Amino acid sequence: MHSISLPTYDVLVKHGGLAGVADIARAATRANRYAVITDSNVVRLHGERVVTALGSVGTRTFTVPAGEASKTRETWARLTDELLEGGFGRDSAIVAVGGGVVGDLAGFVAATFMRGIKYVQVPTSLIAMIDASVGGKTAVDTPRGKNLVGAFHQPAAVLADPAVLGTLPPEHFRSGLAEALKHGIIADGMYLERTIADAPMLLDAAARRADATEALVARSIEIKAEIVRRDEREQGLRQVLNFGHTIGHAIEAASGYSLLHGDCVAVGMVYEATMAVKTGVAGPGTARDVRRAVERVGLPTALPPNVTIDRLIALIRADKKVRSGALRFALPREIGAMASGDGTWSVPVDESIVRAVLAA
Ligand SMILES: NC(=O)c1ccc[n+]([C@@H]2O[C@H](COP(=O)([O-])OP(=O)(O)OC[C@H]3O[C@@H](n4cnc5c(N)ncnc54)[C@H](O)[C@@H]3O)[C@@H](O)[C@H]2O)c1
Ligand SMILES: [Zn+2]
Repeated sequence: MHSISLPTYDVLVKHGGLAGVADIARAATRANRYAVITDSNVVRLHGERVVTALGSVGTRTFTVPAGEASKTRETWARLTDELLEGGFGRDSAIVAVGGGVVGDLAGFVAATFMRGIKYVQVPTSLIAMIDASVGGKTAVDTPRGKNLVGAFHQPAAVLADPAVLGTLPPEHFRSGLAEALKHGIIADGMYLERTIADAPMLLDAAARRADATEALVARSIEIKAEIVRRDEREQGLRQVLNFGHTIGHAIEAASGYSLLHGDCVAVGMVYEATMAVKTGVAGPGTARDVRRAVERVGLPTALPPNVTIDRLIALIRADKKVRSGALRFALPREIGAMASGDGTWSVPVDESIVRAVLAA
């Protein structure tokens, strides 16, 4: 068991911890009623257990169709209407049980319903455990792009039970490992090496060891928590978490969101590490090590066919994380340390270099 403290909440990582969800939710929210928001896959596998554990009269389940397509203002409107119709008020709390889609959506409902009510994150995918559930970013997508309407709203508690990953489809587990690699590359080279070494065991659900999975999740959360603690609202340091994501998001968008997020981030990390070398921010060994890490975990390293460089550049420019003028990237200085970019934690890269790296 691992407990990680953020300024206003704790994250508990515990194999089998789901059984204790009611105690955690009660202590953290002091709510009289719970609205459990989950998705159509997770409800049967784990959601119903959470509802039973919460047990109190008036707990209700709100199930959205699984998948990114549910992360919209329309679903947000439907959920808030249903909460109002169900008589939920300021004394209620939301319990988000699912992957990052459920976490972001339920978090945004919690941020806005009655001007903000408490919520507990019970992440069930690897991405949600090590990334989405921690840090208080909530959002929905719009036709113009992902996460464009949202709010910072910190959870009251996070309960990550790695045992639930036993039912996660293997491709989603592998994709989640991309974020673990990212955490290692930006802040902890030893963690990177351990993740690579453990990958074959972690990727095989039958061989997966509880202690190793707990340690994987806990260390990743610690790294993210340490960064978020120092820069909750992404004014500087939190940029480092975007390593691999500027290119990754562009690939994701270019694929019409048909590729998994972590797979796109893996490719993004390989190209962005190359940019770090080409701009002299990092030595050649860094790009080599990033590529090796991605390969060893079985994640993709190359751009998918039929995305053009012009399209990627246009998408990068449209990304809200890129300021006008120069393209900026969060780049590693070496494995375990990011370039500070004079405190902006992003580095301007000439478009000609970006194009050359993407074309190589
Ligand atoms: N807020 C943040 O800081 C942050 C960070 C990273 C990602 N995100 C968001 O998270 C989303 C991606 O998260 P995701 O990959 O978890 O997507 P997801 O929520 O769509 O989950 C992936 C799939 O796995 C299923 N699933 C989840 N847990 C399961 C389990 N234990 N067993 C079986 N199936 C399970 C889901 O039903 C879904 O089909 C994106 O919308 C992204 O923007 C947010
Ligand atoms: Zn990510």
